[in-house]
Amino acid sequence: MNRRPIIIDCDPGYDDIQALILAKQCENVRVVAVTAVSGNVALKYTEKNALAITEYLGFDVPVASGAERPLFRDPLFAEEHHGEEGLLGMNLPEPSKKVVDKKAWDFIYDIAVELKGELEIVAVGPLTNIAIALMKYPELKDLVKTIYIMGGAILSGNSRFSTEFNIHVDPEAAKRVFESGIPFYLCPLDLTRQSYITDEEIVKVEEMGNKETKFFADITKLSMVTFSGNLPQRKDGIVGSNMHDPCTLLFADDNSIFDFEECYINVETFGKNAGKTVTDCYSDKQAEVKNGYLVKSVDRKAFVERVYSLLSKY
Ligand code: BDR
Ligand code: CA
Repeated sequence: MNRRPIIIDCDPGYDDIQALILAKQCENVRVVAVTAVSGNVALKYTEKNALAITEYLGFDVPVASGAERPLFRDPLFAEEHHGEEGLLGMNLPEPSKKVVDKKAWDFIYDIAVELKGELEIVAVGPLTNIAIALMKYPELKDLVKTIYIMGGAILSGNSRFSTEFNIHVDPEAAKRVFESGIPFYLCPLDLTRQSYITDEEIVKVEEMGNKETKFFADITKLSMVTFSGNLPQRKDGIVGSNMHDPCTLLFADDNSIFDFEECYINVETFGKNAGKTVTDCYSDKQAEVKNGYLVKSVDRKAFVERVYSLLSKY
């Protein structure tokens, strides 16, 4: 079967790294490029981490570098969850390959043109690269088939009580993507916090015994505690790793274990709660226009089984 072409736009970051390790083995999607953006850590690290992990995996996929900062705001980082350089203090061999000779937005556009409407994007960092691509090439909206976005928070926040990190970092970029007319699926925190793996479950990955799965297991175990102190990262007391970005990737690959609903989705761009995603999904009053899909839940056990099954291909 022909696997659907995707670009992964990311800010590695431990869970972006988890997603990239899984992406090589996906069954229904094929990664045609990785684009890096400023997010969890500065762009110089996210692009280096994207290069380093793909090379480590023997994953022959071009990497392009994108935005160094959000559209209109100062950069915000999440080093407390990802470590100063994004790998929770782990090291990968220095990459020998370089980023391609085009900025992420130009690379995305060129690939979209080449693929004549078949390109899909899995966006698991702030949406700055995609927004710049849409502003520079308005016709791109008719060339991208679907965007899968890790972002937003309906009931719970992480970067602030009201906001999720990726959307909080660049709300104006998110707004442009939500209003672009491109069909999109939003995987918010409320969903991705369901797709965790526990300290007991990760043992099975450790036992797989090769360098790729070992790296996955090691970075996942490190993410189970905050980088700065040995506190469980999850509020519910479960010692586990929230696999936010893998959740979004695996939804793009096969949505059969997820529930989702068409609804209205947008984001606040002013005031104290700028970056707060809004939806009519759970409201009595419904918006007149539905512009996207909210992914609401996942069968967690089945999700962990899929992670095992993809990793076991290494
Ligand atoms: C999202 O923000 C980043 O810290 C993670 O990589 C993920 O994409 C979770 O809010
Ligand atoms: Ca990310």
